Amino acid sequence: MQRVLSGVQPSGSLHLGNLVGAIENYVKLQDDYQTFYMIADWHALTSKFDKVGEILPACLEVTATFLAAGLDPNRSAIFMQSLVKEHAELHLLFSMMTPLSWLERVPTYKEKLQNSVADLGSYGFMGYPLLQAADIVIYKANKVPVGEDQLFHLELCREVLRRFHFLYETEIFPEPQAVLTQAAKVPGLDGRKMSKTYENCIYLRDTPEVILQKCTRQMASDTARVRKTDAGNPSICTVFEFHKLFSTPATCEEVNTECRRAGIGCFDCKKRLAEAVTARVEPVRVKIEDHLAKPDGLRDILRDGSARARAVAQETMVQVREAMQMPSF
Ligand code: TRP
Ligand code: SF4
Repeated sequence: MQRVLSGVQPSGSLHLGNLVGAIENYVKLQDDYQTFYMIADWHALTSKFDKVGEILPACLEVTATFLAAGLDPNRSAIFMQSLVKEHAELHLLFSMMTPLSWLERVPTYKEKLQNSVADLGSYGFMGYPLLQAADIVIYKANKVPVGEDQLFHLELCREVLRRFHFLYETEIFPEPQAVLTQAAKVPGLDGRKMSKTYENCIYLRDTPEVILQKCTRQMASDTARVRKTDAGNPSICTVFEFHKLFSTPATCEEVNTECRRAGIGCFDCKKRLAEAVTARVEPVRVKIEDHLAKPDGLRDILRDGSARARAVAQETMVQVREAMQMPSF
């Protein structure tokens, strides 16, 4: 069976964009692949080395969210990067054979270095994509569900493994391919991409009241539509973008026609949207809170998932050490 690996950085609460863009995809892949879903707590240290207390609670929250969204811990290994030490060993070995220039030319590297509020001038931050490469190939993953922003990291991963194969005359790793989500990207409340940094998110732990507030008060509509009697244009309205993602086709159709002939007011339109979004988020939210109320259960799942992941990682490392002529005595 082919393998899937993906990772998320534990950065606190996940939002609707994470659910629709990534996690629902993870859930589907469980049917056809052997799946590994990693919480990248070491990667989180690149920006949180001075706020380490935030990392573990965020990991539990991600785990609760994974389960609430439908990941099945019996079929998927849900695990913590830091509990599978083999990732660190492979990262170190890769670091010896990867030219520094490959890491310097990662497009996100210089950009993040300059624009981030966190101090990213560390050795570890530069090695971020290399640790990611180790995460992937240590499971011999064939498919890696990621967002577009990760494509370059995946390309680097393939270059590293090709170099490994060439240098040590072996063929142990399959080339991992990205799986991009079909679902349209979820816009944020302001119409830009939904992202924590833009503060334009609907979080999966938002209550129905908060969702109603965000939809009615914060979401951008057609700004040219000032009065209820003005006709609106749904094609330039974020609210309508959301309707397309979360409302039934019948509702979309109705909003589309009514808006254009001033038959529905923006407030009502947003209220209906809030209902549709709540219908999607609320069952997930309730489950997240249930799981978070039982942190021992979450830790059990992570312990078990990490043990299963470790067994696979250890097998790969035997081959890696052999290829690099490391002693096994
Ligand atoms: N860099 C990824 C992100 O920020 C997280 C990640 C770490 C990852 N290791 C990975 C993703 C391995 C895919 C595979 O989203
Ligand atoms: Fe947007 Fe709805 Fe207002 Fe039309 S009625 S402009 S779709 S919020």
